[in-house]
Amino acid sequence: MRTPLIAGNWKMNKTISDAREMVSSLLPMIDSNEAEVVLAPPFTALGAVNDIIRGTKVKLGAQNVFWEESGAYTGEISPRMLVDIGCSYVIIGHSERREYFGETNTSVNKKIVASLKNGLSPILCVGEKIEEREKGKTFDVLEDELGEGLKGLTPEQISKLVIAYEPIWAIGTGKTAKPEEANESHLFIRGWLKDSSGTESSKNIRIIYGGSVTPDNIDGLMAQKDIDGALVGGASLQVEGFARIINYKSPYPSLSPQGRGLR
Ligand code: 13P
Repeated sequence: MRTPLIAGNWKMNKTISDAREMVSSLLPMIDSNEAEVVLAPPFTALGAVNDIIRGTKVKLGAQNVFWEESGAYTGEISPRMLVDIGCSYVIIGHSERREYFGETNTSVNKKIVASLKNGLSPILCVGEKIEEREKGKTFDVLEDELGEGLKGLTPEQISKLVIAYEPIWAIGTGKTAKPEEANESHLFIRGWLKDSSGTESSKNIRIIYGGSVTPDNIDGLMAQKDIDGALVGGASLQVEGFARIINYKSPYPSLSPQGRGLR
């Protein structure tokens, strides 16, 4: 039985005081449903968010990490520093990092290895561009990203990961993948994990979906057998909408278009 995971990736949004306000309002709105919740604020707000979520079921995640332990790497943050500030998760290989900051499958691999070594659970992001989907190359892209990103990892290490399937064409576009379409990719990923790390661990790895998740579409996505949660960008910045995503399946509150994450 996999525990669902709902993670909010705030990307480069919110100051420390915005973050405090958002998290203080969010916590009392979270139902006691089964889902694990992760908040990934920018580095500058990690400490403030950690102070507020301490003792709750909400966990802290970072949006990036470097693979070295310490040293002359101006501007970088090590896995141990993330653990030190309270993180238990770290997002690795997000498509925005691949596109704007030169992240490659090789650097992703190093970051995953270093994070696991320090007890952080990586959330590895994979997903295809629209032209790759149109050419029928979705599974080839996923296979490359998984194969190179997870190179050299033991089945035990792989079992500690979360995989986020984020089709790039669905990120920030309002074009969510159809639940069945997303599930197909999740099934492919699970099949790949089974072949490379054995049945038992592949059954327990959570594969979550990201790309224009909103309070309106979360229930349909979560109803799919192989979708174990969501990695939410824009809609995780609005307190009511994100609370509804976390409390998926709960009675539907009336939300403003903004609260529903519609831009
Ligand atoms: P949106 O939910 O804004 O489409 O972003 C998804 C994402 O990139 C989460 O990591």
